[in-house]
Amino acid sequence: MNIITSSTVVVPERISRYGLFICLMAALAGLLFGLDIGVISGALPFIAKQFALNDHVQEWIVSSMMVGAAIGALGAGWLSWSLGRRRTLALSAFMFIVGALWSGFALNPKQLIAARLLLGLAVGVASFSAPLYLSEIAPRRMRGAMISAYQLMITVGILSAFLSNIGLSYVADWRWMLGVIAIPAALFLLGVLALPDSPRWLLQRNRADEAEAILQRIYDDSNDVAAEMREVMTQNAQPKQGWGLLRKNSNFRRSVMLGVVLQTFQQLTGINVVMYYAPRIFALAGFSTHEQELWATVIVGLVNVIATFGAIALVDRWGRKPILYAGCAVMALGMTALALFLSAGMTDVTSRLWAVGTLLLFIAGFAMSAGPLVWILCSEIQPQQGRDFGIAVSTLVNWTANMIVAATFLSLLSWFGQVDTFLFYAFLNVAFGVVVFFYVPETRGVSLERIGKNLMAGKRLRDLGELD
Ligand code: BGC
Repeated sequence: MNIITSSTVVVPERISRYGLFICLMAALAGLLFGLDIGVISGALPFIAKQFALNDHVQEWIVSSMMVGAAIGALGAGWLSWSLGRRRTLALSAFMFIVGALWSGFALNPKQLIAARLLLGLAVGVASFSAPLYLSEIAPRRMRGAMISAYQLMITVGILSAFLSNIGLSYVADWRWMLGVIAIPAALFLLGVLALPDSPRWLLQRNRADEAEAILQRIYDDSNDVAAEMREVMTQNAQPKQGWGLLRKNSNFRRSVMLGVVLQTFQQLTGINVVMYYAPRIFALAGFSTHEQELWATVIVGLVNVIATFGAIALVDRWGRKPILYAGCAVMALGMTALALFLSAGMTDVTSRLWAVGTLLLFIAGFAMSAGPLVWILCSEIQPQQGRDFGIAVSTLVNWTANMIVAATFLSLLSWFGQVDTFLFYAFLNVAFGVVVFFYVPETRGVSLERIGKNLMAGKRLRDLGELD
């Protein structure tokens, strides 16, 4: 979902109010992404009850969105090139509205799966285009912050969905839970219609006058406008490549592969097992009423938001790798502790609270590390000429892996039992730490140009951030 960041930082300078409004509107796509991820955990038990669904159909209702998102991410590169970023975002907003209404009114599980597929298309397109648009329109010094802000919006979306799940659970109405998302989606559509086209896209289309006029409204200072125009022209001079570069350049294959591995491991942490099935996990931990389960889930969402601020504060101070090591250790610990509590059986309130604590530990570990950092790294490691392509591939993999994890969780539980399933996720988090050690570069404070040069000179992946 994300594109470009300048790893040196982050003081917003000379951006106009209009520029900030634009960024806020584009980041709203993250909110919708989060709402759609968060809403299903609250709605699923009611849907399952109404239609008497088995685990398999439930898994499909959850994961059809990811199938759509993978397809959407795949098509988004082409759409945003031919229609432009703004119209592509508007299209995704429209699909969000139709998908939300359709899922709210779905007459049977099949329709629900189809509606979630459409919502997925919207999410896939938005999760590629919004950060791309943001990175193209945000001033250089704000790009890193903007990508983190986008992730923050995702977590806020998830939390809002959890809260609306609670409100609506009192009336046991899954249709409202799903349908109500049409309202923020409509606001998003209105906002997107007010956005200008991306100046970089306009320049690629040789529409320099329009691009300059937009930049003048975004930046307060005309020197910044001139500098930005120069930079974009220089970058545009390098032809953008995708498959061709992948076929002929083994160095580019390495960075694409690293993006794929990072996004796969982000999902194998088990984050979305918690996001989609949290109430179910709390039921395993002995919470007896659905309301208790939903409240515990809200706390999960809250910790997810708060810990993301931690990442924003630390990412340019500690660097990427230390944060990822810390995150992997905390996530592995959280999953292991949860497995142990589940195996001990939770008969009293204290042990149930401990179980909630272990999940919160896991979430905090993810939100301060793998959540934002995988997106940031995936945008930093691709060379300029192949950046769109590399990021599209890693975004596609994020959604594919997301789908596989969502579609297999309930089956894993029934094949291996709860304890072994969570221990398995703990193991995967340790493996993630090992991968970080061997393959992930430290990119803090290193320019994108230097990283690209190191890559193309054949340096080891873990050394891509070296300055000599
Ligand atoms: C992940 C999503 C996840 C979300 C949770 C994102 O970085 O890509 O799959 O649901 O974080 O906050």
